[in-house]
Amino acid sequence: MLSKEIEKALNNQVRLEAESSQIYLAMASWAEVKGFEGVATFMYAQSDEERTHSLKLVKYINERGGHAFISDLKGPKTEYDSIKEIFETQLKHEIFVSESINELVKITLDSKDYATHNFLQWYVAEQIEEESTARTILDKLNLIGEDKGGLYLFDNDIVRFIAPKTAK
Ligand code: FEO
Repeated sequence: MLSKEIEKALNNQVRLEAESSQIYLAMASWAEVKGFEGVATFMYAQSDEERTHSLKLVKYINERGGHAFISDLKGPKTEYDSIKEIFETQLKHEIFVSESINELVKITLDSKDYATHNFLQWYVAEQIEEESTARTILDKLNLIGEDKGGLYLFDNDIVRFIAPKTAK
């Protein structure tokens, strides 16, 4: 049985992951409209992934005798100035999500909820992956700079960064 404190903290993460999904969906739509097909495909996949992160938490909370709370979500930013701004925003957001996961891990340790602590290890590993991918992509964009041809090739290449489906 989950303590009220852990249930509340996990529900906060449910919302954060769902908001991540919305943020990436908005980025995908922006990229699609601007003609960046590859970036759009990548961000649609990213959005789907975040939804599975949220869902996995919903199921865990309910399985452990809590009640996963489906809340209102903060509206995502819908306009961007550049592809680079999109990926800078993504990296910043993923670092923020990692901090939230780390805080959750700390709460579970403090309250000796080892089952939830164990459950969260999947998220810890996932965040390492996501931050690393975002950094690699940003490095590439920094190399390309303002070069239009480079950006075109980048857009063709980015789909290879789509993570294989690991979330259940
Ligand atoms: Fe599920 Fe990218 O945090």
